[in-house]
Amino acid sequence: MTFAPLAPDDAMVPAPLPKRDALTIARIVRVNHAGEFGAIRIYSAQILVAKLLWRDCVPALAEMLEDERRHCAIFRAAMPARHSRPCRVMQFWSYGGWMLGFVTALLGRPGIWACTAAVEATVHRHLDDHLHFLATRDPELHADILAIREEELAHLLHAEERLAAPNIALNGLRAIIAFATDVLIWLSTWGDSTRMARALRVVGR
Ligand SMILES: [Fe+2]
Ligand SMILES: [Fe+2]
Repeated sequence: MTFAPLAPDDAMVPAPLPKRDALTIARIVRVNHAGEFGAIRIYSAQILVAKLLWRDCVPALAEMLEDERRHCAIFRAAMPARHSRPCRVMQFWSYGGWMLGFVTALLGRPGIWACTAAVEATVHRHLDDHLHFLATRDPELHADILAIREEELAHLLHAEERLAAPNIALNGLRAIIAFATDVLIWLSTWGDSTRMARALRVVGR
């Protein structure tokens, strides 16, 4: 007696993503990889200055740097399966991030923590958008970003605790850095961040 082969259980096979969604996911990975690389450069420059001038800040900055290195490696590892590659102009993040970290560290502890708070708040906003999009489309990447967002939030809270008495100058500095971070994201991805934000709006929030 022969048996017909079992029919594949179609319900168990995830449907392929629409091309537009797959492209958006590739952009999400690229933008985040660039952002993490920029954060590595910011914290590296700040540690360099802090070792000379603000030594008490070094342990926390070094911990954050380790986190950013791990985040960067996670996004790099996520790239091949999603047909994503590092952005073509990582130098923007390299030099821009380093200069941002160096200059803010020269401004002293408030400069360091205002920079951290501004960058991490901007990153947090982007990650929230990404999580919303990925929840049903890429659960694996969603889980990675969820864990990373927890650590970014810890960085943000650490910085904000040290900015207990914000003033107009600090708020202005935070606004400028947040704007610069968005510009760097846009430049380093040739506008991908704008196209991605548009794609995220299109799918509904
Ligand atoms: Fe990070
Ligand atoms: Fe961070």
